[in-house]
Amino acid sequence: MRLDKFICKHSDLSHRDSRWAVASGRVCVNDAVIQDARMEIDRFVRVTLDGQILQECKAHYIMLHKPPGYLSATSDPQHPTVMELMPPALRNELHIGGRLDRASTGLLILTNDGLWSRRLTEPGKKLPKVYRVATAEPIAADAEARFAEGFYFSTENLTTSPAQLLRLGEREAKVTIYEGRYHQIKRMFARVGNRVVSLHRESMGEIALDDALVPGGFRALTEAEIASV
Ligand code: URA
Repeated sequence: MRLDKFICKHSDLSHRDSRWAVASGRVCVNDAVIQDARMEIDRFVRVTLDGQILQECKAHYIMLHKPPGYLSATSDPQHPTVMELMPPALRNELHIGGRLDRASTGLLILTNDGLWSRRLTEPGKKLPKVYRVATAEPIAADAEARFAEGFYFSTENLTTSPAQLLRLGEREAKVTIYEGRYHQIKRMFARVGNRVVSLHRESMGEIALDDALVPGGFRALTEAEIASV
């Protein structure tokens, strides 16, 4: 929303007086005087009129080292959820940018910025997500080629984007996918006659799980990590 319209909506001023208030330097956005009434205002900037706060909503971007056993959900009658690992004051605000299955571990991102998290998860953005996978059976000889070809999933009527499989051992691999379909990695391994026994997400785009975080630990993303998405 434009700054003048924002002032009009959030104060007693008419539209004309709002424009005048902006032009005369009575309005600050993130503590800087702004005299351009056309500036676009989103919900995460601090706006004041004559020093009175009209809006103050902080954006939160958090990386969590998800432990096994926690559901990627806001609430559940049966299982603990990742929200229970978040500070109580933020629990009602945050949503998850790219879920992990209950048994899966590793990088989980939580935020209250819906536009940003959409960029993180939209399949069209082709953001690489890297997983470390252990399997029940030896990984088939043609697995690299099959992952690169993509798999047709009839439920969604789509073919997965080419994925990379890097063999780390007979039953261990690093897999990079560019979308996040339901149980995608497990379903891909099922197609090559195997079963995933553990799944750990190492990174999403340029955001890598911080080695300093123990399972259940979390920290705020850095400015550079936020800007990388
Ligand atoms: N693919 C899966 O099968 N499970 C996850 O948790 C993430 C990707």
